[in-house]
Parts: sequence; C-alpha cells; structure tokens
Amino acid sequence: MGTTAIILAAGKGTRMRSALPKVLHKVAHMPLLEHVYHTARTIPDCKVGIIYGHGGELVRNELTHLEADWIEQREQLGTGHAVQQASPVFSDEDTVLILYGDVPLTLPSTLTDLVNSSKKTGFSLLTVDLENPAGYGRIVRNSNQLIDKIVEEKDATDTIKEICEVNTGMMAVSGKLLNKWLGKLNNNNAQGEYYLTDIVEMAVADGVEIMAIQPENEYEVMGVNNRKQLAELERYYQLKHAEELMAAGVTLRDPARVDVRGDLEVGQDIIIDINVVFEGNVSLNNNVKIGPNTVIKNSEIGENVEILANCVIEDAVIGNGTKIGPFARIRPETQLGENVHVGNFVEIKKSIVAEGSKINHLSYIGDTDIGKQVNIGAGTITCNYDGANKFRTVIGDNVFIGSDSQLVAPVEIEDGATIAAGTTVTKNAPAEQLTISRAKQVVITGWKRPTKK
Ligand code: UD1
Ligand code: CA
Repeated sequence: MGTTAIILAAGKGTRMRSALPKVLHKVAHMPLLEHVYHTARTIPDCKVGIIYGHGGELVRNELTHLEADWIEQREQLGTGHAVQQASPVFSDEDTVLILYGDVPLTLPSTLTDLVNSSKKTGFSLLTVDLENPAGYGRIVRNSNQLIDKIVEEKDATDTIKEICEVNTGMMAVSGKLLNKWLGKLNNNNAQGEYYLTDIVEMAVADGVEIMAIQPENEYEVMGVNNRKQLAELERYYQLKHAEELMAAGVTLRDPARVDVRGDLEVGQDIIIDINVVFEGNVSLNNNVKIGPNTVIKNSEIGENVEILANCVIEDAVIGNGTKIGPFARIRPETQLGENVHVGNFVEIKKSIVAEGSKINHLSYIGDTDIGKQVNIGAGTITCNYDGANKFRTVIGDNVFIGSDSQLVAPVEIEDGATIAAGTTVTKNAPAEQLTISRAKQVVITGWKRPTKK
C-alpha cells in the first residue's frame, strides 16, 4: 500500500574519471546517492531499494547506515533491466517511484506531487523543458497533448530531436502495472538496451493516461556525469542555502563564500564573514559573530560569541559571550564556559574551561579541567601524554599560571595557586601558594664573549 522508491545507481560514471563510484561523490559533504535516499524517505511510508552495479560493493559498504534493500544488477543492460531486478522488493499494491542515484537535489515536494498524481491513473512522469535537450529522451505528445511515448536521442528523427520537453527519468507507477509492463520489455533499439521508457507506449496501449509533473527548477532534475556538473550542483546548493540563512535573519558578508555541509541552526542577528565552512550539526545562537576563514564542525556556539579570523572548532560547546581567535584551534570534547577568552595560537583538546578564564597566547591545553577566572600565561603547555598514556590536569578557580610553564599530568593546581613563569610543575601545587621550579638567577661578573681567532 505504501511507496517503494527504486534508486538506480548501477551506472559506471566513466566521465568522472575517478576510482570512486560516481554516486559516492559528494554534494554538501554527502554522497549523491544519500541525498536521493533522504529525499525519498520524506515520503510517508516509503521503503527504498537501491540498484547497484557489479563491483559496487564499495557503494554498499560506504552506505551501510541507509535502511534499504540492496539489489545487484550484474550487467548494466539498461534502465528497464535495472528496474526488472528490483521487482522482488515491491508488490502490486505499492506505488513504485523510480529515482536516479546521481540526481541529488530533487525537492521533497516534487516527489510528493509525482507520487500523488500517479494515484489518479497509475502512472506519472516528471518532465522538464530544456533549452538544450540534447542527450535526453524526448516526450512525444499526441494531438490532445497527452503523452504518447518517449524516444531516446539515439533513436530519434530530426523532427523529434527538436522537442524540448524531456524525460527526467523520474516516474511513479502502480506496482501492478509496472510488473506487467516490465515483463514485456525488449532491447530492439539503437543501443540494444532494455529501456524503461518503453513502458510509456505500453501504458498508452492499455489506455492508461500518463500524468506529467514539472519540477520547480532545473537543478532538481540535473544529474552528475562529470566534475563540472558536480561543482555546479554544489554551488547551486550552497547559494540556495545561503539565501535561506539570510531569509532567517543572518548577515552573510558574501553569500557565495559560505558553505554549509550538514545542518546549521541559527538564531537572530548573526554575522558571518567570508570563507566560513560549517560541517555536520552546528548551532549558532543569537548575535554570534564569525570572522573570515573559519571552519566549525559539530559544535554549539552560545549567544554573543565572537570568533575571530582563521579558527577551527570541532565537536565543542562554546558558552555565551566567549571570544575565540584569531588562529585558535578548539578540538573535540572541549567545553568553554561563559565569557572565556581564547587567543591566538591556542590549541585546546578534550578540556573543560569554566567561566571567565583566559588562555590568550600560544598554549596547548589537553585533557584538562580549568576552574573559573583562571589566567593561563603565554606559552603554557599541559604535558598530557607520556608517550603511551594520557593523563588529566586539574586546575582550580582563580589560579594564575605564569608564562612558559609546563604542567606535567597527572597533576593538580589547587584554587588560588600561583605558578611562577617558567615552572615545570610535576607535583600538586597547593592552594593560595606560589609554586616555582626555576634555577636561581646568577650573574657571572667579568665574563667576556669569545672573539674570532
Ligand atoms: C535515461 C532515460 C532518458 C532520460 C535520461 C535522463 C531510458 C532508456 N532513458 O537515459 O529518457 O532523458 O535518463 O537522464 O531510461 N542505470 C542503471 N543500470 C542500467 C542503466 C542505467 O542503474 O543498466 C542508472 C544509471 O546509473 C543512471 C540512470 O540509471 O543513474 C540513468 O542511466 P543513463 O545511462 O544515464 O540513462 P540515459 O541514457 O541518460
Ligand atoms: Ca544520463
């Protein structure tokens, strides 16, 4: 009773000139095939079958997380042959939706329209008018403007080649009718292939009217055959996303220079400078400002946070009012509290920094808990790794760490402790005391610099 989407993905994709199967190439950081899968799954009660080619094990292994039936088509004998392989995964009661694994940007609403309109007669087709229809199957209509047949470019006469309405390949057909027609396909044509499109003439012979649906825009039906088309779809996707962000109240210094490769949630009055890349799930709260050349991946950025130029932030939670950068790297499992300052050339990994603390210059903080209102001096390093194991450093509230100190973990710096500049801390530093490990400064009087002989 539901819908079964059959995604054709067995083609070789020779023109990509790639060792990677075509449908694994990515738009917005997601394989083409996975885009098609997710769009199909927006249709209520829709299962998915994927036709993959011989040697397409790579595709299967890469996409094991998709909930789909995988159907192997050992030899690519045509789109009709591909769908024939899928007949075990749909029933007569299903609506079968045919999709292509290399056409990633179809809108969910277009597929919904296609499925719904097929319910009227049992067959609907997604067609589009193209200025340059070369290469596509042409839609031939009768004197009543009803669809009569599809003629492939290689089988077309010059008159038919002038038709600009083309077959996108996407269609929705009643399972019962499809099963009947699939059994009658032959390969008597210019390419010696089993054409799925031949079912159009069979439908007409059976008195089934073919409904036609058009997409909102051409990009929805554009496939990827080469790297140029891959880049075109990427740019289209990104520009559309940028427009959505601006419509939601985000200022983009240049909508052509922001890339969203995943899901980005935004609050109000956010300002994003040029060349910023978002990956995975990122949320930006109200009034966040992001400087140029920054990458943010799977992170939550609090209100009023300011990220200056050239930062990389990954798997982190950043508290309200915090300032980061320029040139800072926040690595996975880091949590920065409210009003924290992280300055240039600071790397923080798997650490918790409580509110009001500052790490402003040239530091490495790894596997560390830092309390409130702590000042970490320039060049401070947590030595968290002994070559085999990692250990934690614990720093209390109101601690002051002098510049160029090394904290050799596991070690604790208690509340209010001061560590003198240049200290190598190997034992716990007690609360409120000054800890220093520095050779006493001496002056050698009368010493002379050597001179050249
Ligand atoms: C097909 C249509 C054509 C339409 C065009 C739109 C047929 C006969 N022709 O032509 O009317 O205008 O798409 O792009 O259907 N595939 C398989 N197994 C196969 C053959 C193809 O999985 O044996 C897959 C391909 O990977 C691809 C899709 O089906 O994703 C379309 O195949 P392709 O060879 O590109 O079809 P066209 O000849 O372009
Ligand atoms: Ca094609």
